[in-house]
Amino acid sequence: MERVGPGDVDALRRFLRAADLTVSGLDLSTVDLWVTRDEHGAIIASTGYELSNDTHHALLRSVAVSPAHRSLGLGTRLARFTLRQAADDGAQSAWLFSRRSGPFWQRLGFAAASRDELAQTLASTHQVQLFTQTGQLQVEQAWHRPLGV
Ligand SMILES: CC(C)(COP(=O)(O)OP(=O)(O)OC[C@H]1O[C@@H](n2cnc3c(N)ncnc32)[C@H](O)[C@@H]1OP(=O)(O)O)[C@@H](O)C(=O)NCCC(=O)NCCS
Repeated sequence: MERVGPGDVDALRRFLRAADLTVSGLDLSTVDLWVTRDEHGAIIASTGYELSNDTHHALLRSVAVSPAHRSLGLGTRLARFTLRQAADDGAQSAWLFSRRSGPFWQRLGFAAASRDELAQTLASTHQVQLFTQTGQLQVEQAWHRPLGV
């Protein structure tokens, strides 16, 4: 897993756009991101999160695996890595938005949650502010799980 720096943001943006995920805010210092590359240096997976101001809550985002590398366990390893990082950063619970991959997150211990509770808990994050402004919040599905238990 390689931490994303300013020079990686354009390639990550292309990768996430192809996965139909949010590409806004990738260059913010408040968004922690990592990628995995193939032997040619191309991004094949990504993951990341933003923390609430008090660091007690993490909003996972940008979790994606390229179609050619799916169903091999990479997504699960990425998600577990991200949850460990967030816990090390002080987060006591993890949240995310996902309309299409709910069963994947349920296997990782997430349960359906209130999108309004997520938006309140993580109001300071870029993704919540963006989704609130654009109205996307109202069509999203929120997920939640405690960390460190
Ligand atoms: C979700 C995602 C990261 C999973 O990556 P992956 O490497 O395939 O994950 P794993 O191999 O560890 O686990 C795959 C298992 O998760 C489940 N799963 C994954 N995506 C699913 C989906 N959309 N619907 C139902 N189950 C899903 C399946 O049970 C699958 O098992 P199978 O391969 O036996 O069918 C990948 O499908 C992806 O990039 N999707 C598009 C982006 C996205 O929706 N990201 C989540 C929002 S942040």
